[in-house]
Amino acid sequence: MSGYTAHFKVWRGDVSGGGLKDFEVEVNDGEVVLDIIHRLQATQAPDLAVRWNCKAGKCGSCSAEINGRPRLMCMTRMSVFGREETITVTPLRAFPVVRDLVTDVGFNYTKAREVPAFVPPAGVAPGEYRMMQEDVDRSQEFRKCIECFLCQDTCHVVRDHEENKQAFAGPRFLMRVAELDMHPLDAAAEAGLDRKTTAQDEHGLGYCNITKCCTEVCPEGIKITDNALIPLKERAVDRKYDPLVWLGSKIRRR
Ligand code: SF4
Ligand code: F3S
Ligand code: FES
Repeated sequence: MSGYTAHFKVWRGDVSGGGLKDFEVEVNDGEVVLDIIHRLQATQAPDLAVRWNCKAGKCGSCSAEINGRPRLMCMTRMSVFGREETITVTPLRAFPVVRDLVTDVGFNYTKAREVPAFVPPAGVAPGEYRMMQEDVDRSQEFRKCIECFLCQDTCHVVRDHEENKQAFAGPRFLMRVAELDMHPLDAAAEAGLDRKTTAQDEHGLGYCNITKCCTEVCPEGIKITDNALIPLKERAVDRKYDPLVWLGSKIRRR
């Protein structure tokens, strides 16, 4: 297959406003969308702002929306589009634009800081931790996260409702809470921190209505909804309606 000319629309602007700009640009075999953005920088738009780093789907920097779908630009092959198709590249919609394709993803770092860290078990030194392989495997899936924030961008709870950002941590960080809550060595409960309760009360677990859009866009193929959010919801509900927990809370209130 030989090279061809593609029609691109790329959002250009900053916090004060902007719009889509048209480009005709060369495409060669095996290229990805990020290659085309780099070619635009090299030939037609030297000041086009774009964030990227590894070009290997591992740093999570090059997130954008391509024909409306949140994707990594470096992992989106040009061959998935028809040659006649117009390809539209816009910045992540759920976060404020800095310039062109670069957004301020600081919301995610704020939410990350709100999740209390792993609490080491008492009396066990680092290096002496032991756990079942199936528990290792379970949290290993969540640790594949590259923090691209595509799941955070696509979840309708914040995508369509800016006002929910205060109360909702988003799928990436609810997954982190779930991971810690499943961790057999996490001693948060002994330290007085109930991760199931805080998931509901402080991280907005109840806002998630299991649409699974986060799972659909995750470039690491993490089953965010099925393996993290739904189990966390089930455990939070179990705890809420546990008769012993209910009785304990009544006694404590006296
Ligand atoms: Fe990206 Fe997936 Fe991590 Fe979400 S869970 S930030 S989509 S890698
Ligand atoms: Fe949002 Fe994922 Fe729940 S897209 S609503 S966090 S299942
Ligand atoms: Fe690193 Fe795309 S440039 S994930």
